[in-house]
Amino acid sequence: MYTNPQLWELTLDQWPAAVWELLESAANGFDEPFRTPAVASTGPDGPDIRTVILREVHSPQRRALFYTDARSPKVEQMASHNAVTWMFYDPARRLQVRARGMASLHGDDLLAKRCWEDCSEANRRNYGGLQVPGSALEELSKEVSMGAPDGRENFLVVATAFSRLDVLLLGDQSNRRADLAWDGSVWKAGWLSP
Ligand SMILES: Cc1cc2nc3c(=O)[nH]c(=O)nc-3n(C[C@H](O)[C@H](O)[C@H](O)COP(=O)(O)O)c2cc1C
Repeated sequence: MYTNPQLWELTLDQWPAAVWELLESAANGFDEPFRTPAVASTGPDGPDIRTVILREVHSPQRRALFYTDARSPKVEQMASHNAVTWMFYDPARRLQVRARGMASLHGDDLLAKRCWEDCSEANRRNYGGLQVPGSALEELSKEVSMGAPDGRENFLVVATAFSRLDVLLLGDQSNRRADLAWDGSVWKAGWLSP
């Protein structure tokens, strides 16, 4: 695990691998703050943003996944405008990573099938609600908030291939910021003024 002093020693060339290692560790663990990033998309009224759970990271494809309900407003937003930004923040490391990329939606392919098979029954219930997420409720009821066990048709995997990473590390004496841009074959890295 990276600690702040080690992060401060990273060279530009080492930053891309360090970021991917931190993301992979968050996807595989439960206590990491990077496990609950915010994902921003463009809605009809402007920017929209929400917390999600980072489910998987595939660093060779520069890809991160979250699961969602296909009926939720964010899905329509990403279907019409697939540029998204993920924002990860780790207060202990005082590290922010903004990751930009194009989202792809997977509801009925091998990826979605495999992710659904990996879901616990408790997690599957999140997709079985009778009400469309975000729709008005007449009253609160257990059935609506828990959902039915089989929500397969509402289950959607959102994958984002990141092409730009903006890394900001805060320190007591100074701050450090790096821009990591995927050029199609390697990450091109440069320091930025924080
Ligand atoms: C800790 C936390 C984790 C969440 N994880 C997810 C998630 O993985 N997928 C998801 O669709 N919504 C998740 N949500 C709910 C979203 O933040 C959001 O409220 C919901 O998806 C509706 O978003 P939308 O109206 O932009 O579509 C999570 C919320 C919290 C507080």
